[in-house]
Amino acid sequence: MLLLITGICGFAGSIIARGLLEHLPGVKITGIDSLIRKGSETNLEPLRALGIDVRVGDIRNEQDLADLPSADWVLDCAANPSVLAGVDGKTSAKDLLDHNLGGTIHLLEYCRRHKAGFILLSTSRVYSIPPLASLPVEVVNNAYRPVFSSPSAFPQLSTDTHSSRPSTLVSRPALSPLGLTEQFSTLPPISLYGSSKKCSELLALEYGMTFDFPVRINRCGVLAGAGQFGKADQGIFSFWIHSWARRLPLKFIGFGGGGHQVRDCLHPRDIVPLLIAQMGDAGRKVDPILNVSGGVESAMSLAQLSEWCRERLGPHQVASDTNPRPFDIPWMVLDSSAVGEAWGWMPRTLMPPILEEIAQHAEQNPDWLELVS
Ligand SMILES: NC(=O)c1ccc[n+]([C@@H]2O[C@H](COP(=O)([O-])OP(=O)(O)OC[C@H]3O[C@@H](n4cnc5c(N)ncnc54)[C@H](O)[C@@H]3O)[C@@H](O)[C@H]2O)c1
Repeated sequence: MLLLITGICGFAGSIIARGLLEHLPGVKITGIDSLIRKGSETNLEPLRALGIDVRVGDIRNEQDLADLPSADWVLDCAANPSVLAGVDGKTSAKDLLDHNLGGTIHLLEYCRRHKAGFILLSTSRVYSIPPLASLPVEVVNNAYRPVFSSPSAFPQLSTDTHSSRPSTLVSRPALSPLGLTEQFSTLPPISLYGSSKKCSELLALEYGMTFDFPVRINRCGVLAGAGQFGKADQGIFSFWIHSWARRLPLKFIGFGGGGHQVRDCLHPRDIVPLLIAQMGDAGRKVDPILNVSGGVESAMSLAQLSEWCRERLGPHQVASDTNPRPFDIPWMVLDSSAVGEAWGWMPRTLMPPILEEIAQHAEQNPDWLELVS
């Protein structure tokens, strides 16, 4: 099996590449990364030392892709993954779209030429913000929890759920205590980042159907683990633990400044068995768009994360800022039941070992935040 991984020096790409080398006998990996993400350069030589052909190149540049060898599958892990991209004053909306959407189009052209399958690491950020921002929630154990007094208040069926698609999803509610399903609305506003991924999803499906190559869209929730290039707007678990270990200023922002917003998290190495299954059975008749996430058992609020940090790393103060943060939502947990039924997949690493490995990485790499910001 010949595999092309884009964004291979990034957090997810590098961990998945290592996992595939270990668990997929006979795989030969080529990777491409522009090293635009600070810290990604630290993965370049270690990945090459494993025998991976890693090219420094940009998926916005068609020539960089034309120079790559043919592959059976493309795994797209290259993106600007920040929900604030395009509105943070650091990157323009056009830049974001060039990387996240323009790059995807070039990869789809590559798949068309080489008849390669395409797997996109998409995001929970494709789900509509207004119904999530106005979700009725209560605070339980220092964390928001949705109030399900009237389930009919959350129908929010997605406009992209087609009855003609092979689907394991039709009978699922859009939202339950287990989280959002693939049925949840994807109507804008979903952020420029979310839109760049949603458009990529749509084009990937269209290219796959038109030019007859397999496409899988894995909508990931928050990814976390040691070695993530954590920033406040992306890689929050890593950013928080590294900052706590260094006693750097931390702030709960928005929603009253209590840090009650909840996210679930998944270790990228847990995605490896799913990818192996998906690449090994290209023709399986299951929905091509699936949530892939840690779920309610691996979900916590920033206030709870701070309690964990206090126990593990000692005392530290967290300030409060009640000003809202753009695109913030109180509770984002994905229900991955459908991917379980379709592929027998479930997350393996729960939250505590993920947090512990980040804490150990923070202790061993005290200058990590300077390196990655
Ligand atoms: N990290 C998360 O919490 C999360 C959650 C859901 C989905 N995702 C998706 O997973 C993928 C990987 O995210 P990550 O956390 O590893 O991010 P990352 O920033 O660590 O890695 C992305 C890599 O892509 C590279 N890259 C960016 N633009 C490029 C371009 N034009 N050409 C070549 N390389 C380019 C960067 O240099 C970086 O190494 C992204 O597509 C992201 O949207 C991430």
